[in-house]
Amino acid sequence: MTGITRMASATGRRPQGPALTRRMVLGAGLAAVALPRAGLAAERRLTAGPVIAQILPEGDGTTAMLGLNGTTPGPDLRLRQGEVLDVMFENRTGAASALHWHGIRIDNAMDGVPGLTQPVVEDGEDFRYRFAAPDAGTFWYHSHNRSWEQVERGLYGALIVEEPDPPAVDHDITVLIDDWRLEETGALIEGFGNRHDFAHAGRLGNYARAIASVTHVRRGDRVRLRLINAATARVFPLEISGVTGRIVALDGMPLAAPREIGEIVLAPAQRLDVIADVTGTVRFDFPTRQGPYELGRIAAEGDNPEPIGGVVGPLPAARVAPPAAPTQRLTLRMEGGAMGGRHAGDDIWAFNGISGMAEAPFARFARGETAEIVLINDTAFPHGIHLHGHHFFELDAGGAPGDLRDTTLVAPGETRAILCGFDNPGKWLLHCHMLGHQAAGMKTWVEVA
Ligand code: C2O
Ligand code: CU
Repeated sequence: MTGITRMASATGRRPQGPALTRRMVLGAGLAAVALPRAGLAAERRLTAGPVIAQILPEGDGTTAMLGLNGTTPGPDLRLRQGEVLDVMFENRTGAASALHWHGIRIDNAMDGVPGLTQPVVEDGEDFRYRFAAPDAGTFWYHSHNRSWEQVERGLYGALIVEEPDPPAVDHDITVLIDDWRLEETGALIEGFGNRHDFAHAGRLGNYARAIASVTHVRRGDRVRLRLINAATARVFPLEISGVTGRIVALDGMPLAAPREIGEIVLAPAQRLDVIADVTGTVRFDFPTRQGPYELGRIAAEGDNPEPIGGVVGPLPAARVAPPAAPTQRLTLRMEGGAMGGRHAGDDIWAFNGISGMAEAPFARFARGETAEIVLINDTAFPHGIHLHGHHFFELDAGGAPGDLRDTTLVAPGETRAILCGFDNPGKWLLHCHMLGHQAAGMKTWVEVA
């Protein structure tokens, strides 16, 4: 490919994997090519199957992908806090699958993990997901079977749980960020199970986009931007221009004190909500050493004659119990991978010397118990560690609880303690959300009884 630009890695340490191709991105206006995506409150079925997507700019080649109800990303699913989502998943993909509802403090039987919480949904079969959403916020759904391949092929979408009394905005916009490894023709490059990718940063794409659910806004509009990193491996640093406002939530959980936007970093599966006022074309850029790589934009046309204005305040507080003193202290050491990772496990990656799912859980908790887990990254790569069914507090160096998250990014050599109230009974995965790492051993589970 021509015009290739090497970009800094997620952590800014080194370039990793194939470069993103700048030519394709900068050659065309992205606003015009947002994929069609409906926002459906009363979706009753999600049919997964092959779709043809226009990932490259209009006029360039199309991409054979998987989607839901005919599009990738699948439809934005919207419901109110406390409501029940009741959806028939119809698997017509040609391969076994299952859907996981990422970040929802869900009934364990509905968590969508084949072999742990449900049988796999074979091709041609259906599975009914039915669950209440206890928290308002930005979540997402994605395949949890051969996820390193099926998420890469497009089996995911946004899951939005609205506050009973949502903050006033002119547009509530979902922004799904992803990268793809494409031929010049637009075809997905095969080799999803590539062990070399698994041993390094994962399958990084050569083309990236931020896909917004809205193409036009007005100057003066107040917008809520719900950013979701749906990539299987890439950590996205992100700059947003054309708005002034604040970050109001991380991983669906409201911040007690909204923050200045600044430079954002989103690990795979992480989300971030911004509420802001539009000052001009809204642009999403990936900063690189060679300058900004444009991921997408929302055009600003005309002026809002009656701006909402005023300071962006906090969202209603999360319903998660406040931090309590831990009754267990555990250590989870990330091990393996290329560049010197050694361990006792039998695959590329391991937690505490064990690759993949052991017979016994990593830990057992009595329902309501609080535990501190020290995550040690003893590898040469960043990892985004995700716990199912719960949110946890990231602890600062002094042990004070900070942000509530369901996925925490741990840089090479870094240690991060988390504090979690295990109040949701069941069997829950704990894994790296770099999906190739998960596939190659970086996963375990906990049991809450
Ligand atoms: Cu978003 Cu186990 O995954
Ligand atoms: Cu990882």
